[in-house]
Amino acid sequence: MDNNLIYSGKAKDLFKTENENELLVVYKDQATAFNGKRKEIIPGKGVLNCRISTLVFDYLIDNGIETHVIQNISDHEQLIKKTEVIPLEVVLRNRVSGSFAKKFDLIDGETLEEPVIEFYFKSDKLGDPFINDSQVLSLHIATQSEIDFVKQQTLKINKLLIPFFSKANLDLIDFKLEFGRIDDKIILVDEFSPDNCRLWDQTSHNSLDKDIFRQQKGDLVDTYEKVLERIIAE
Ligand code: TMP
Repeated sequence: MDNNLIYSGKAKDLFKTENENELLVVYKDQATAFNGKRKEIIPGKGVLNCRISTLVFDYLIDNGIETHVIQNISDHEQLIKKTEVIPLEVVLRNRVSGSFAKKFDLIDGETLEEPVIEFYFKSDKLGDPFINDSQVLSLHIATQSEIDFVKQQTLKINKLLIPFFSKANLDLIDFKLEFGRIDDKIILVDEFSPDNCRLWDQTSHNSLDKDIFRQQKGDLVDTYEKVLERIIAE
């Protein structure tokens, strides 16, 4: 094993660099679902996720959102700022789908009056359980002002990304973000790719995201290539 490897995730590996404030992220050709119970090697996936995430993060940075990205090193590697990652998966939903549809027995695709924000506690061992604000405070995962800031940023990112994807004829159904602390600030970390959002074609309503893999209803690489081509063409 590479001595510099500090964390091996399901879709990315993290390495130390010569600079203690910077890390190297390597996007992997691997897809998992159901908390890693299904795992497949998918050649080409790492490059696609890295390229899509780079376009999305660049757009967010241009619109005033601070992120951990410093620069890309190759088509599947990025240099990032080292942060103290807040162990929360922050989910925003514009439309009913996935676990929300299942949990409340609702029809897929129904528009929500206002975006819904949910927190999940990042723990592979526990299967990323739902966690409410009061539990976040009680477990000292984040302070009230941090919770407020994270929610505010998530809503702001949603407002920026809805038109970004709409130009590519894609509806942003829901997505997952992660945040990290650095120098008394909270910034956007992780990635934004079809692995962690739902994108539906505005005409056919077909999925162009990881549901293709979760539900085994198509080719992941073909699907992610379509997303990349459409957002490049904007
Ligand atoms: P859910 O409907 O399964 O709760 O997923 C909501 C959103 O979060 C969806 O865009 C997919 C994303 N997501 C992740 O990024 N990682 C995960 O582990 C899960 C379960 C969902």
